[in-house]
Amino acid sequence: MKSTLTNNKAKKKIIADMIRVNQAGEFGAQKIYEGQLEVFKDDKIIQKMASQEKIHLDTFNKILIERGIRPTALSPLWSVGGYLLGLTTALIDRKAAMACTVAVEEVIEEHYKEQQNNLKHDNTEKELIKIIKKFREEEIEHKNTALEHNAQDAKGYYLMTKGIKKITKLAIFLSKKI
Ligand SMILES: [Fe+2]
Ligand SMILES: [Fe+2]
Repeated sequence: MKSTLTNNKAKKKIIADMIRVNQAGEFGAQKIYEGQLEVFKDDKIIQKMASQEKIHLDTFNKILIERGIRPTALSPLWSVGGYLLGLTTALIDRKAAMACTVAVEEVIEEHYKEQQNNLKHDNTEKELIKIIKKFREEEIEHKNTALEHNAQDAKGYYLMTKGIKKITKLAIFLSKKI
């Protein structure tokens, strides 16, 4: 009995950490697109991705509140960091903005995939699994859209995406804990 209780508590914490990091990630993503739209105001492609990110963020905001999970304390950092990342890459040019999207979405997509694998056998979290699956598909779509829009032709593509992926992974790591 005691071990079941401990297991439940441990599981609850794992899922709380997952939702916290997802909310933080979607918050950061929305800020990145906000920064990009500062430069490419009427860009329908970026607008569409941003509107999907808004739904992702709203969904995780709702789940966070429903379950009484504390948000990451690093929100102010992701707010400024995400916005500046979106803005500065967009200021280079549209291809650089797209390269940024490729890098971020690739990390987020892998992150969601990992969560899907971890939750696979959890019958009590079917709704959450469905949400993660849907969002992951949309992140892949964003990555592919950015690739179709010449992300790989951005100057210094390899180094830029490598750097942005590192930052994104660090942000994920920190948001799980802090
Ligand atoms: Fe998203
Ligand atoms: Fe996305």
